[in-house]
Amino acid sequence: MTQMNTRVLLARRPAERMVADDFAVDTQPLGSLEEGQFLIKNSYLSMDAGFRQWMNEGSGDNYLSSMPLGEPVQSIIMGTIIESRHAGYPVGSTVMGRTAWEEYSIDDGTDFMAILEPEAGIEPYEYLASLGPSGMTAYFGLMNIGQPKSGDLFLINAAAGGIGSLAGQMAKAEGCTTVGIAGGPAKCAWLRDTLGYDHVIDYKSGESLDDQLTAIAPEGVDIVFDNVGGAMLGTMLGHLAENSRIVLCGAVSQYDRVNGHEAVANMWELITKRARAEGFMFSDHVDRYPEAIAYISAMLKAGTLVSPINMSEGIESAGQAFVDMLDGKSSGKCLVKL
Ligand SMILES: NC(=O)c1ccc[n+]([C@@H]2O[C@H](COP(=O)([O-])OP(=O)(O)OC[C@H]3O[C@@H](n4cnc5c(N)ncnc54)[C@H](OP(=O)(O)O)[C@@H]3O)[C@@H](O)[C@H]2O)c1
Repeated sequence: MTQMNTRVLLARRPAERMVADDFAVDTQPLGSLEEGQFLIKNSYLSMDAGFRQWMNEGSGDNYLSSMPLGEPVQSIIMGTIIESRHAGYPVGSTVMGRTAWEEYSIDDGTDFMAILEPEAGIEPYEYLASLGPSGMTAYFGLMNIGQPKSGDLFLINAAAGGIGSLAGQMAKAEGCTTVGIAGGPAKCAWLRDTLGYDHVIDYKSGESLDDQLTAIAPEGVDIVFDNVGGAMLGTMLGHLAENSRIVLCGAVSQYDRVNGHEAVANMWELITKRARAEGFMFSDHVDRYPEAIAYISAMLKAGTLVSPINMSEGIESAGQAFVDMLDGKSSGKCLVKL
């Protein structure tokens, strides 16, 4: 019997605000393997806000190409190899890599595709969350660029998201006082009560972000971890302490803009505050993943890291889960279980 494969396609270019109808579900017969390929039965899809950027027309850059219309949406996945014509990827291996929103993926290992050795006692999906790209991004952004020291004031936006929820807890573990910015009172209460943020700012409250930052950080902020970009980044740059570090991780407020990102205010502050802003991609640090995994799994085992997961079920739920994540309707790392 022919094996069928249900996939979620990018059906049209999103207008400014993405909706679930920008995606379409289709089912096709699965092709057969060529020499050098292997077949993955996907068990989890990772919902990553950054992929929104590459859904726009002409958005290809030095990191990824613009996603083609009518093709499965590109995604980080985790799964098990069930058939193989590639000696380096044997049947039974658990893998994490970049394929697409689909039940089965055929791959040749030439792009990002790692064989995992999940540790007993750790939920396998953690390798897509705290021990996967989100954890690696939080860890390398914080440690390499943020360079936390005990007593530093650490400020992060999208603080309740996949990366934000982990980075804030790691900064706290490094001795920082943490300030999390998120949308809505329920999320902010959760940040304080469950994730242990010292201060929270609800950027949707109607109160000025500038005034709230002045009240919480009158001496300025030592580390800014920016996931949002645009106007919010500009406001945060107006509150730097001397010798501060700005981790440029993402710009989720800008991905809907089809005509390019808006200018960022207060760049002058970097000069007078002797501050350093630096961008990075988590995949720059593949050689140091074991260091990050050791750090994060020690926290997980000691019970000092909450790894919040927002789990959706079924391939058909991927589009709505992605839209809900961008709209801030979910908290923690968003995954789809197949
Ligand atoms: N550099 C790297 O290697 C790397 C790797 C992965 C991801 N990233 C970046 O990291 C960031 C977070 O990614 P994620 O996958 O973990 O997503 P996420 O934080 O789980 O989800 C995105 C969150 O951003 C907030 N948000 C959306 N629009 C906003 C706006 N206009 N203003 C302020 N906040 C807004 C929403 O939360 P609220 O309820 O708080 O609004 C939403 O839940 C993204 O910018 C992504 O591109 C970077």
